[in-house]
Formats: sequence, C-alpha cells, structure tokens
Amino acid sequence: MKILVTGGAGFIGANFVFYMLDAHPDYDIVCLDALTYAGNMETLEPVMDNPKFRFVKGDVADREAVFKLFEEEKFDIVVNFAAESHVDRSIEDPGIFLRTNILGTQVLMDACNEYGVERFHQVGTDEVYGDLPLDRPDLFFTEDMPITASSPYSASKAAADLLVMAYHRTFGLPVTISRCSNNYGPYQFPEKLIPLMIANALADKELPVYGTGENVRDWLYVEDHCRAIDLIIHKGKVGEVYNIGGHNEKSNLEVVKIILQQVGKPESLITFVGDRKGHDLRYAIDPTKIHNELGWLPTTMFADGIRQTIDWYLENESWWKNIISGEYQQYYEKMYSNR
Ligand code: NAD
Ligand code: TYD
Repeated sequence: MKILVTGGAGFIGANFVFYMLDAHPDYDIVCLDALTYAGNMETLEPVMDNPKFRFVKGDVADREAVFKLFEEEKFDIVVNFAAESHVDRSIEDPGIFLRTNILGTQVLMDACNEYGVERFHQVGTDEVYGDLPLDRPDLFFTEDMPITASSPYSASKAAADLLVMAYHRTFGLPVTISRCSNNYGPYQFPEKLIPLMIANALADKELPVYGTGENVRDWLYVEDHCRAIDLIIHKGKVGEVYNIGGHNEKSNLEVVKIILQQVGKPESLITFVGDRKGHDLRYAIDPTKIHNELGWLPTTMFADGIRQTIDWYLENESWWKNIISGEYQQYYEKMYSNR
C-alpha cells in the first residue's frame, strides 16, 4: 500500500506520518509539502532515514509537479492535510487560503482521477458548520448539518468539502471527508492557542485571551485524530463524511488557566485583548456516526493529553524556540501589539 500524505511537515500531518509508519510498517508513505512557514523539516527528521518514507517538497496547487509525482509513484490512497490553517492569518490575507485549500484540493483530485486511487481522503474541519450558541449545550455538530462558515479559513475548507463531494458524484472519485474538532499535541505551531499559551507562560509573557475568553472549543489529542483517519481510509464508506471529536468542550479561559496551573505560573499573566473578527462562539462535535460505524472512541483524556503536550514542549524547547525566534516575531508583533 502506498499513501500520499500532503502537508506532512505540519502539525497533524507529521503526527499522521509517524502514526502510520508505526501502525503499518509495510506501507510506503510519501509526504508532499511546500514547506510554508508552518512546515518544518526538523519535525520529520526522525523518519527521514526510514526506507518506507519519502519526502517531496512541492505545492499541491502546482498541477505539473503533482501530476509528475502521481505518474512516478502510483498512489493507492491520498490523505490531504495540506492547507493554510490559521483563522487569524485568513482574516489578514484570505487569498492564499483559497489557492491552497480549494485549488490545491482540486489539483490533487484531478491527479487522482487521471491516475486512479482507491481513496482520496480530505482532512476537513468542524469549522465548516459555523458555530453554536453558548447557551445551548444540548446542540452538537452532526454530519447532516448545513455547511456555513465564519472566516475565510472555514469558507475555504467548506468550499473544498463541496468540491470533494462534487468530484465523487460527477466523476465517481472514491472520496471520504473527516471533520475534526480542535487538535492539540506535539509539534503544533506556536501561533495556535495551546502552544502559544504554553510558550508565553514559560517565558513569563502575557497570555493574550481574545474577547472574554468564554468561547468554547472541543479539544482532541492529535493521535486520536490520526487513528480516526486511519480507520476511515480503511473501513469508512466511500462518499461519506465522518465527524471526529471527543466531547471535550472547554472555554478558552479554562484552557489557559489549566496551562498556567500545570506550569506553575500566576493567573495574573492572563491579559484580555481585542476579540477576533467574526469569532465563532462554540464548536462541539457529535461523534456518534464514527463511533457506531467504525468503533472509534478517543483514548487520551484532556488531563493526560495536556500534561503530555506541556511535557513535550518542555522537552523540545529548541523546536519551538527556533520558530519563535525567526519571522514569527514579526507576525506576533503585527497580531498582538496594540490589540
Ligand atoms: P499546519 O498549518 O500545522 O500544517 C499545514 C502543512 O501544510 C504545513 O506543513 C505546510 O507547509 C503545508 N502546506 C501549506 N500549503 C501547502 C501547499 N500549497 N502545498 C503543499 N503543502 C502545503 O496545519 P494542521 O493544524 O496540521 O492542519 C492540517 C489539516 O487539518 C488542515 O487541512 C486543517 O484544515 C485540518 N484541521 C486542523 C485542525 C486543527 O486543530 N489544527 C482541526 C481540524 C482540521
Ligand atoms: P486557534 O488555536 O486559533 O483555533 P481555532 O480558531 O481554529 O479554533 O484558537 C482557539 C481559540 O482560542 C479561539 O477561540 C481563539 C482563541 N485564541 C485566543 O484567545 N488567543 C490567542 O492568542 C489565540 C491564538 C487564540
């Protein structure tokens, strides 16, 4: 079995590469990644010598390069993680989100149609369901809910999902889509809530909480997400969407307080800053379908997952310090000074 993992130098893609090489030592894994600011070769260092792994630097929206790679490799399965993934950046500069997330998905599916694959799996997000109100804890995202989107990021992911379903219906491409809630764990780029707050807390810097901090996210440990995708690509039904989430809702303020408590820093570091434009209130996944059809359940509870994640950031300081010492500093200034 030969699997193309796009975006495998990013947070979830890299965790998926490690997971698959471990779970299926007989599979060949090829990673295609453009190495944008979010892609990091240091992350893939431990598998670069593995004979079952190949890294290819390239852009998923580059039709010629993608077709050449498909011609060379004859993939059985394609799992598309490659994306611009940060909501705040999409508010600053939407264009690149449309190019990578929509056109990149189209190019990959055209290559799948041309060369044939057993499965094209699109790694989607729960953000395509819009948001839920804070005062209705009885409501959850189910797969049959209408697609709607609040940010240019979620709109681009929603457009990609629609295109994936259209390629299934029109061209018969064997597709699946997963829509996962917020992930956390090792190798997450420190622009996202959890690693940003860990890094700031460790440096005794202010922890910038948007708005009131009441917004709720449904957190899932990244390895649980990887295992769900592994199940879907092998046992999931073609043409179906699977929500992935573990009923682990927490307000941003709760998450930040847990991190502070775990690293032994005072809550006085919390600083409320201007809210994100269009800020979604609450995400909450109903994972009944993937549980009933594929037997998936999360295995890492938040208390354990956050401890492991903090330990990882403590033990791998050079990984994230390299990131935050570079061009990321300009990003941080732009996003957080005068907010
Ligand atoms: P990330 O930003 O950490 O990584 C994205 C990777 O894609 C990077 O390695 C980057 O170099 C690569 N990439 C970007 N543009 C590319 C292009 N044009 N061609 C090839 N590679 C390109 O993102 P992540 O958090 O790992 O998310 C991965 C996927 O999972 C995304 O599709 C995202 O929408 C989805 N997702 C993320 C979450 C989450 O909580 N992080 C939740 C649900 C779904
Ligand atoms: P983020 O990690 O960007 O994920 P998403 O927007 O895709 O859910 O943000 C998670 C939540 O944390 C979101 O409600 C925005 C909030 N947030 C802050 O309050 N401060 C920050 O510095 C960041 C990056 C996010």
